Amino acid sequence: MYKVPLVKNTFLQEEETKKALSKFVLDARILSMGAECCKFEESFAAYQGRNRAVLFNSGGSANLALLQALKNMGKLKDEDLIGFSAVTWSTNTMPIIQLGMVPVALDCSRETLNVEPEELERCLKDHPLKALFITNALGFAGDLDAIRDICRERGIILLEDNCESLGSELKGTKLGNFGLASTFSFFVSHHMSTIEGGMICTDDLELTAMLKLVRANGWDRNLEEEEKNTIRAKYRVQSELDAKYTFYDLGYNLRPTEITGFLGQQQLAHLPGSILKRQDNYLRVERAIKSNPDLLTLKRDHLTVLSNFAIPILCKTPELRGKYGEKLERGGVEIRPLIAGNIQRQPFYGKYVPKSRELKGADFIHRCGLYCGNHPDYRQEELSILEDILGGGK
Ligand SMILES: Cc1ncc(COP(=O)(O)O)c(C=O)c1O
Repeated sequence: MYKVPLVKNTFLQEEETKKALSKFVLDARILSMGAECCKFEESFAAYQGRNRAVLFNSGGSANLALLQALKNMGKLKDEDLIGFSAVTWSTNTMPIIQLGMVPVALDCSRETLNVEPEELERCLKDHPLKALFITNALGFAGDLDAIRDICRERGIILLEDNCESLGSELKGTKLGNFGLASTFSFFVSHHMSTIEGGMICTDDLELTAMLKLVRANGWDRNLEEEEKNTIRAKYRVQSELDAKYTFYDLGYNLRPTEITGFLGQQQLAHLPGSILKRQDNYLRVERAIKSNPDLLTLKRDHLTVLSNFAIPILCKTPELRGKYGEKLERGGVEIRPLIAGNIQRQPFYGKYVPKSRELKGADFIHRCGLYCGNHPDYRQEELSILEDILGGGK
């Protein structure tokens, strides 16, 4: 048993949530996707400040659905070059390959863990990207204002994988509100949990309708009446009976359940408070990191809110990473690599993508990065363990 585990519990306000969940399940008649999911979508869209939110059964599903929807709409095509942050999660990159497009990894800065505008400019010199599916890593972000401007100028579709940065703000704008759409994860170790779950936010109504179609088999049952009428007229579907079993475009079954929708609403109520607590934890541990010449301090002065569920640790050398990895484990702190390192170095990437880019920042993060958890209910003892070790003691 770790004294400071990566995942401490399943929910924000664990006991209260489990009690409420038990009652909800006992009282519910049908638990497949329905009213609770819609209510969560509405409240999440309002929280994020976006027109629409579409709920999925995971963050990875949300990523897959987003790219599939853009292909169905003709905005992306086979062989299109899709840029992505080299330091990311497998299921950010995999759907690019699965859907027949070409992934192009962009380097991530060791100062912010993220793609910066200079790297985007560099990459565009020999890679005419159709879309950039950027990851906002571990609550941090690059200069998204400048990245958005470059994308606008060049007609590149900007998408944000915000699965790790729900609640972070850059100069007062929530991460996830810089591009056409953004994805979120509600897996247990994330900012709030529906056990498994994911979301896509966007202001684009046409994309919203296509996402609902992709989420459920390619049929139109979850679309608004007007949207149903439009698609039925386009394909000359006459009767309600036929419409129910007409499959208009490529889709999957990526539906959440009413449990996802119920839990999402419960958890969202606790989110703002937990973000502040996690931010306080990070700032405390950051003071220890700053005082330690073996570690690098990440740049965050452009972020007006820093919302992370983990504390990234960037050592100055791979040897120091080994040393701090051992010290943390010995001190009872559960650790892991920094996300998945440079994703180009993962076996699946080499198997399917013939050309990798040489990326110094992502390689540095791969060789020198670690992370431990950041929980809103850390006690003094848990924070002291982190402060002592990361401050260079023990
Ligand atoms: C950047 C990023 N994208 C996507 C995902 C996938 O989310 P999920 O685990 O809900 O499928 C994760 C999961 O940790 C992630 O970190």
